Amino acid sequence: SLVAPEDGVRVALRARGDEAYRLAVRPDGVEIAAWGAAGAFWGAQTLRQLFPPEILGDRKVSGDNWRCPCVDILDYPRFAWRGFMLDVSRHFRTVEYVKRLLDRMALHKLNVFHWHLTDDQGWRIEIKAYPRLTSVGAWRGAGEALPPFKYDKSDARYGGFYTQEEIADIVRYAARRHIQIVPEIDMPGHSRAAAVAYPEILCAGDDKSLSVQGVPKNVWCAGREENYRMLDAVIGETAALFPSPFFHIGGDEVNKNAWKRCPRCQALMRKEGFKSLNQIQNYFVRRLEAIVRRHGKAMIGWNEILQGGRLAEDTTIMSWTGTKPGYRAAKLGYRVVMAPGPYTYFDMKESPLDDFGHWWAGVISLEKVYAFDPLSAGGLSPKESERILGVHAPLWGEFLTTAERAQIKTWPRLCALSEVGWTPQAERAFEEFMARLGPRHLERLAVLGIPYHVPEPVVEIRDGEVVIVPPYPGADVRYTLDGSDPGPSSARFEGKPLPRSVARKIKVCVFAPGARRSNVIVGAKLRRKLNRAGCLKPRAAVETTMPAYRKYTPEKVVDWKPKTFFWSSRKGRKGDTFTIVFKEPAALSRVEFPSGKLQDASADCVAHGVLAVSEDGRTFRECARFVEGLAAADLGGKKVKALRITLTADHQTWIILQDPLLRP
Ligand code: ACM
Ligand code: ZN
Repeated sequence: SLVAPEDGVRVALRARGDEAYRLAVRPDGVEIAAWGAAGAFWGAQTLRQLFPPEILGDRKVSGDNWRCPCVDILDYPRFAWRGFMLDVSRHFRTVEYVKRLLDRMALHKLNVFHWHLTDDQGWRIEIKAYPRLTSVGAWRGAGEALPPFKYDKSDARYGGFYTQEEIADIVRYAARRHIQIVPEIDMPGHSRAAAVAYPEILCAGDDKSLSVQGVPKNVWCAGREENYRMLDAVIGETAALFPSPFFHIGGDEVNKNAWKRCPRCQALMRKEGFKSLNQIQNYFVRRLEAIVRRHGKAMIGWNEILQGGRLAEDTTIMSWTGTKPGYRAAKLGYRVVMAPGPYTYFDMKESPLDDFGHWWAGVISLEKVYAFDPLSAGGLSPKESERILGVHAPLWGEFLTTAERAQIKTWPRLCALSEVGWTPQAERAFEEFMARLGPRHLERLAVLGIPYHVPEPVVEIRDGEVVIVPPYPGADVRYTLDGSDPGPSSARFEGKPLPRSVARKIKVCVFAPGARRSNVIVGAKLRRKLNRAGCLKPRAAVETTMPAYRKYTPEKVVDWKPKTFFWSSRKGRKGDTFTIVFKEPAALSRVEFPSGKLQDASADCVAHGVLAVSEDGRTFRECARFVEGLAAADLGGKKVKALRITLTADHQTWIILQDPLLRP
């Protein structure tokens, strides 16, 4: 029933806005109070999460005894924009898939669904004025103008599109879940699908260059006036379907070469007095801005739309190449949505062991997503901070050939993103999140039928023993020692460390609700904890036969900064040397020379090598062999002029050398 909450709650809710709710579960009943309908809806989602996971299933459960703890919660989101982007261009997702995704977003109190409807690999929205956009542009593979996924060697023709009726249905479905759908028509680049349907939208001049993803001829001509009429129709039909006040025009990764050779674009440059191609980009984007506004929307675009000049004040920037463009945009006065590759790009691998996924923005672990604070840096004033509307995770789909793959990339990282959006920064702790995620919340994902990525354990050597750290309390961790992959009935890890001797052969796997399993961890990592207290930091010169990988130069070994190191840019070879010559001889009681990564000393370490010392810098005496990547020798206070590492065999890996520990 609808009852008025007590006065204090009314005041608190009103202050926190339409999404705030108060959930009170008492022995005699449940009360949800909210100022806005969205708040009441989010309160109901929290209530669903208080019950056992089975409540979320669509199967009848007999003998039910569903209990829910008594609580009194006043809850409201930290950010107004808590979004997820689905790329349906590269691989089409069905109406059913989108609806299930919206259900699950709602359960996690996410409120913006960004629908990436067009790109080089497919046009997915019916436009009545331009039917070829879908009759030609929605299909890839055999017999079609658009090529198939490059690893797809079958003869399949695939694709699809949403009719306007289907879109209207999905928009209504989302609205009932308090989710706003922001459509994206990606322009002027990423438009190969539109160009195969209507080649006249391209520049004249037959430019043969490729986009960063290797796609030819995918940029709208900026100097062809008919293009703006066509885009007005496309944007008009699209805008009419979506009540959202935002319209996403893309604007990312434009290959501007065609503009350089096109007589129409060159004429535009002369007419407008432009000196750079970025000014054409700005011109195009501002034309779109005007069209979008005419159809009652405010423009949003990827951060490249800031290139080449100012935009309207009500334009919003989606910061994807990092957080910096977002902070810069907020300082310039634009509203910003944070979707930075290094934190929220869910097409990246979640673990280095994943068998698919990109890594140009790094491995985006659950912890990385959880740790993201959209306001962490950037030196924004309170007013500028207010322009950061919120947080957003894009899921690009070129490698997501199946619905299963798409979901594994989405979950449970989207659970972590939800907390970035809701919970005050000071109240967030990853370990606590993991304790709530597994196995309880993972059971919810399982009941919902979601194939999700199972968090991995850490397997490491500690104090001479092999220790397995489960990813969350109560995780079902199993291992083998005979080289076979662990199964659900392999030995269960009960918390007791294993002997050091199993470090190389142990294989560990987490078994999780819904018959899910983690990647198999092979071998225990040797994490180095180095005590550098009291070590000398003498001035020194270095020399090596190994070429350096980028910034990981030989000098990094004698800069005495523990985080920097030398990394060779090829495999270590028998006879390779690395020599340190001190400016002044140093009296050393002991030297320890670590190689390999600190987090995993077996990675890129010196597996076969010796350390030698020299008192005069010319004659060297071998003093230690590398064992588990470390060479250590007691020198009895001897004056040392130089140290030299020599590899005694060819290595299968590049070589990392850390700063040596020089004990006086
Ligand atoms: C993007 O990832 N190209 C926005
Ligand atoms: Zn042109």
